[in-house]
Amino acid sequence: MNERALGILGRESDRVSAILTKFLDFTRPKPVEVRRVYFPDLIEELRASWETDPRAEGLPLGIGPVPDVWVRADPLCAHQVFTNLLTNARKALEGTPEPEVHLDFEEDPSLLTVQVRDNGCGMDAEQLRTLFVPFSSTFKEGTGLGMSLVFQFVQAMGWDIRVQSQPGSGTLVSLKIPFWGARTG
Ligand SMILES: Nc1ncnc2c1ncn2[C@@H]1O[C@H](COP(=O)(O)OP(=O)(O)OP(=O)(O)O)[C@@H](O)[C@H]1O
Ligand SMILES: [Mg+2]
Repeated sequence: MNERALGILGRESDRVSAILTKFLDFTRPKPVEVRRVYFPDLIEELRASWETDPRAEGLPLGIGPVPDVWVRADPLCAHQVFTNLLTNARKALEGTPEPEVHLDFEEDPSLLTVQVRDNGCGMDAEQLRTLFVPFSSTFKEGTGLGMSLVFQFVQAMGWDIRVQSQPGSGTLVSLKIPFWGARTG
């Protein structure tokens, strides 16, 4: 078999495995176990995966000052929530002349707000309406399961999610994450 065919096979099998993993997550969610998670660790893992992902090459991930706090989360679910949001941002930025993805943080007395922002293609009212509906996708390479999983996990962890978007001017996703115990704890 020639190299080109092997390359195609490899990519296809990666794709099938990614879809299958997502599908299994979707249909058989493992029990979500909320515990005390050190927030900077979570962000560090995301930064590391982004920096080693060839698909994000040339697209810097801007990260604001990371609050030194503990939050209520299931570490695996939290990682998947952010990975799904960042992957969408990356896909939305294909073809954007000056692409930007940003993670920013704000602290309230009992909550941490995390904003995931991109200046990509954005969504119209219909796309926003069906954003969390399984299998609704407009991305070239999409199964439409990412955001429905995000929604499931966000709910199960007691977080909150809001999405603002305009076609052509990008998307802002805000997550509200409860602190573990007192803010200083
Ligand atoms: N940041 C974003 N900018 C523009 N459109 C978005 C963004 N995030 C989501 N969307 C729209 O919402 C749809 C659903 O997103 P979702 O993550 O559920 O599916 P997907 O990315 O298409 O596929 P999957 O996540 O399963 O690989 C996307 O196909 C796209 O139309
Ligand atoms: Mg997605």
